Amino acid sequence: MSNKDAVGVLIVDDQEMVRGICRQVVESLGYQAFQAESASQALQIIEQQPVDLVLADIKMPGMSGIELLERIKAGNPRIEVIVMTGYASVPSAVQAMKLGAADYIVKPFSSEEMKVLLTRLAETLDLKDENRYLRERLRSRHALGQLVGQSQQMQQVFKLIQRVAPSRAPVLIRGESGTGKEVVARSIHETGPWRDKPFVPVDCGALAPTLIESELFGYVRGAFTGAVHSKEGLLQSAEDGTLFLDEVAELPSELQTRLLRAIQEKEFRPVGGTKRIPVDARILAATNRDLEAAIRQGSFRKELYFRLNVVSIALAPLRERKVDVPLLAEHILQRLAASQPDSRRRVRWSIASEALDRMLAYDWPGNVRELENCLERAVTLGSGPLIRAADLPSNVQSPVSAASTDFPESVIPLEEMERQAILRALAGAGGDKMLAARLLGIGKTTLYRKLQKYQQKG
Ligand SMILES: Nc1ncnc2c1ncn2[C@@H]1O[C@H](COP(=O)(O)OP(=O)(O)OP(=O)(O)O)[C@@H](O)[C@H]1O
Ligand SMILES: [Mg+2]
Repeated sequence: MSNKDAVGVLIVDDQEMVRGICRQVVESLGYQAFQAESASQALQIIEQQPVDLVLADIKMPGMSGIELLERIKAGNPRIEVIVMTGYASVPSAVQAMKLGAADYIVKPFSSEEMKVLLTRLAETLDLKDENRYLRERLRSRHALGQLVGQSQQMQQVFKLIQRVAPSRAPVLIRGESGTGKEVVARSIHETGPWRDKPFVPVDCGALAPTLIESELFGYVRGAFTGAVHSKEGLLQSAEDGTLFLDEVAELPSELQTRLLRAIQEKEFRPVGGTKRIPVDARILAATNRDLEAAIRQGSFRKELYFRLNVVSIALAPLRERKVDVPLLAEHILQRLAASQPDSRRRVRWSIASEALDRMLAYDWPGNVRELENCLERAVTLGSGPLIRAADLPSNVQSPVSAASTDFPESVIPLEEMERQAILRALAGAGGDKMLAARLLGIGKTTLYRKLQKYQQKG
């Protein structure tokens, strides 16, 4: 039989009779059987056939079943191994389990016993495959490059990124601090056809105004005291690639004018230089400021705004898309774990459900960056691969609701506060009622009842 989707079982035993019994069982279950007389033959078959599971005798001439197990696990840990052993060598079965065998069976065994064992294991195998499949599917739909998110808002952002990435159109990325503006900029660059070209970030807020000009446009020798060599500017290093103007609202006014001219004319003059240098870089810009207000106040040039804002991507604050919290936390956690200097911390971390509940109830004023800091603290200070509520910063552990910090102008009826809380939770959960109920700390049925009540009231 050659059913491509069937579980492939490789039977390794030097005794033909044992192989015969096993083969019968394997085939009666609808799996595909492969046979080997020795461990070395088994290794050859594994390289050529779709083997998911190995039934290996421990005591064989030549390479033992234990060594075979070690080699399989080293080369392809996905393959499960069951060892078959005589009464006399149960201790080696124990050793095999320590080395990663899925189970063991003591010889002589009946076909019925073998059938039970295989059925049970195949179920877990199927399950694992299913999980892997789901994870990958989820990832592809809920991720773009380094960005993850399953909220409607983030799905919209993914679509926009994919639309703008192939073009050279400038994009203005907006959002509160820590919402992921820089990751979005990098994703645009990495999704597009110029991904092999440089991505050059310029932090307009961090550089002293006097420095930005020479950093951005470069300078020629003797342009100012101390300019002993000429230096290429960031704009020029982004040639053919992407220039990312982070915190663009902080750019001093004269520089806004110079930058606008450079973008429009696709050429510029380094500080102190006379020669014009052509440049072709894609411009991405980000800000957490209200640029329209800055224009009204005269601190941001309208023409530059129009030039940068050809396409605009707005990132919602995390509190308005709390459905993303579990996915983001998982993503960030695995990234953090992988970069731990201590190998004991480079494991698969997870979050206890009470901790996740607190994280879902919290408002995250610092957005994804705050979530990241919170997880980093938990991974660094926590004891094990499980993050508990106690590992979270105290403000996350017991969030003070925004309403209670404001001095009440007038008293709001309890029922109205409840209604608002429910509507906010639903919006934050992207309409997911299960999650909304969790955010509110009430049961799903309670939420349904309350929703029904509001609907009746209109
Ligand atoms: N959707 C996301 N998926 C994965 N990681 C994210 C996402 N959004 C943000 N992050 C992570 O959160 C952190 C903050 O993101 P980023 O630096 O892009 O924010 P920002 O909007 O530029 O913030 P600021 O305005 O403070 O500079 C980064 O480490 C980033 O990797
Ligand atoms: Mg940033």
